[in-house]
Amino acid sequence: MVFESKLLCKIIGFIHLINNQLYKSKYLPIFKRLGIHSVFALIALIVIGGATRVMEAGLACPDWPLCYGSFLPFNHMNLRVFLEWFHRLDAFLVGVLILFKFTLSIIWRTEIPNWLPKTYSLLLFLVIVQGSFGALTVINLLDSYTVSGHLLIAFLLLITTISINQNLENDAIQEPLIWWRLLLFVPLLLTLIQSFIGVRLSSTWSAHICLSFNKQCLILN
Ligand code: HEM
Repeated sequence: MVFESKLLCKIIGFIHLINNQLYKSKYLPIFKRLGIHSVFALIALIVIGGATRVMEAGLACPDWPLCYGSFLPFNHMNLRVFLEWFHRLDAFLVGVLILFKFTLSIIWRTEIPNWLPKTYSLLLFLVIVQGSFGALTVINLLDSYTVSGHLLIAFLLLITTISINQNLENDAIQEPLIWWRLLLFVPLLLTLIQSFIGVRLSSTWSAHICLSFNKQCLILN
């Protein structure tokens, strides 16, 4: 009995040591810093995407992947072309940042928690899908469902990046209570639903239709 409890203590001590080693890995601060940069870069990209939408610049670059057949469309430059061109360039840089984090997590996989390479592969997958949706918004001439999908994946990318950061920061904190999780999950879900309704409204030009046929939309008058 004494031998068994000593063995158990050793195993628990060993697991504790491994966990401590993992979480005290010298590479984690690098991922934390890159994570904070990613959150700001994504928020900036989403703002530029939103500006592209409200300035009706979605088709300012009519072709894909280049803009007017050129990497730097100086001859056609105006505010709208700049927004659409810069949105693509910024998306490319964010993609490179995510690829960089994923590659580092693969190289240092034995020194970091094993959920990190897995979640970075999810992030990489999402950014590839998002890039494809971006291309489809142009090819499908701003089809409403494609634009809506593009916005929702942007939010998924941001949520995943913030969650990774939270997990990296809070490794010592115990699992949150279920009611606390629900309390946070409900507003998040409502925000996503509201954004979906909003993007459908704007990408189908519903407000314009309302205003031009004012009998159907008395609430706006
Ligand atoms: C990580 C990558 C990307 C993110 C996070 C992102 C995010 C966004 C967001 C949030 C919007 C505003 C959507 C709305 O308000 O309805 C937007 C618009 C847009 N994005 Fe992206 N985007 C990304 C990559 C791309 C790429 C690679 C393209 C390639 C062409 C692209 C093309 C567009 C276009 C054309 C619009 C305007 C859509 C419209 O006018 O209806 N995006 N993007």
